[in-house]
Amino acid sequence: AAALGLSGCKKSDENVIVIGEVAALTGNTATFGQSSHNGTQMAVDEINAAGGLLGKQIQLVTEDDQSKQGEAGTVAKKLISRSKIKALLGEVASGRSLEMAPIAQAAGVPMISPASTNPKVTEAGDYVFRVCFIDPFQGTVMSKFALGKGWKKVAILTDTKQDYSVGLTEFFNKHFSANGGTITGEQSYSSGDKDFKAQLTAIKAGNPDAIFASGYYNEVALIAVQARELGITVPLLGGDGWDSSSLVEVGGKAMEGCYYSNHFSNEDQSPAIQEFVKKYESKHGAKPDAMAALGYDSAKILFDAIKRANSVEGPALRDAIAATKGYAGITGNISLDANRNATKPAVILTIKDGKVVYTETIAP
Ligand code: PHE
Repeated sequence: AAALGLSGCKKSDENVIVIGEVAALTGNTATFGQSSHNGTQMAVDEINAAGGLLGKQIQLVTEDDQSKQGEAGTVAKKLISRSKIKALLGEVASGRSLEMAPIAQAAGVPMISPASTNPKVTEAGDYVFRVCFIDPFQGTVMSKFALGKGWKKVAILTDTKQDYSVGLTEFFNKHFSANGGTITGEQSYSSGDKDFKAQLTAIKAGNPDAIFASGYYNEVALIAVQARELGITVPLLGGDGWDSSSLVEVGGKAMEGCYYSNHFSNEDQSPAIQEFVKKYESKHGAKPDAMAALGYDSAKILFDAIKRANSVEGPALRDAIAATKGYAGITGNISLDANRNATKPAVILTIKDGKVVYTETIAP
């Protein structure tokens, strides 16, 4: 994948601070990388317009991992060895962040994932952070939501190729089964599959009140369409991996009345959020999704830490990121805990008349 911006071969320039970004700009989950990159770039442009940091401009070097497992690690290594980055931002998908994290840790380059929610990501070591909540919380949120609706029988559909989906299923299942719910069937598929009829036929036979689909938007949209074709009318439930404009574009009517948890709602009327939404929309012609907001927040958290550390050297920068407390982000108040994770509320969104609408906020 080609680097955007200045090439990694250029002699290191003393007047810039080079930050690396790994994003899925193309491939199966391209909206993840495009959105997070837009948010990240916006934060970089803002800080540079305001004079940069430590008297230098920020130079963002972005690598596209093409939504590919394997490629994320390769480009992370390239950013570290060739571009001499001082910090690494990304990825969105947990499986790809899990690949990058040990590489950043071994190199002593602080890494901040904007959006990877699998708990294992930050377990790679003390150089690895995230600015989002984690899946034990997200799974619990959706389990409580289902139980609260009186949906006691739920079938589960998992993408076994994605660490995120496997983890979210596990955490949902654990809470749901321990709190009076029954799992009426567990089915699986692999990222990139297009035909889910066999799994859905088996799920239908169990007569569930809802289906928990823990994967990413592209397959979930097809799952919803095929479920309706098979006469399954119950709602689908899911997590942040559903967040993409493609969900409704592809899923259409089949997505009506379905629910998912997320990090952010662009309908939130607080002034700071609406200011961000307006700025983003005027630049990109679409409202920001959660990854755009998280990308923005991840870069801002990094800049705040660079300022406090008054340095971009690994250990000093790591310590400053770890000390992040009460940072007012677009996706909520961000404090990093001892495990380098953020504790934040989740929102539950639903699809109504072809639009994604906010329903409620769940405190951590
Ligand atoms: N949480 C997902 C993962 O870990 C990624 C994601 C975050 C997707 C936010 C959409 C929105 O894989």
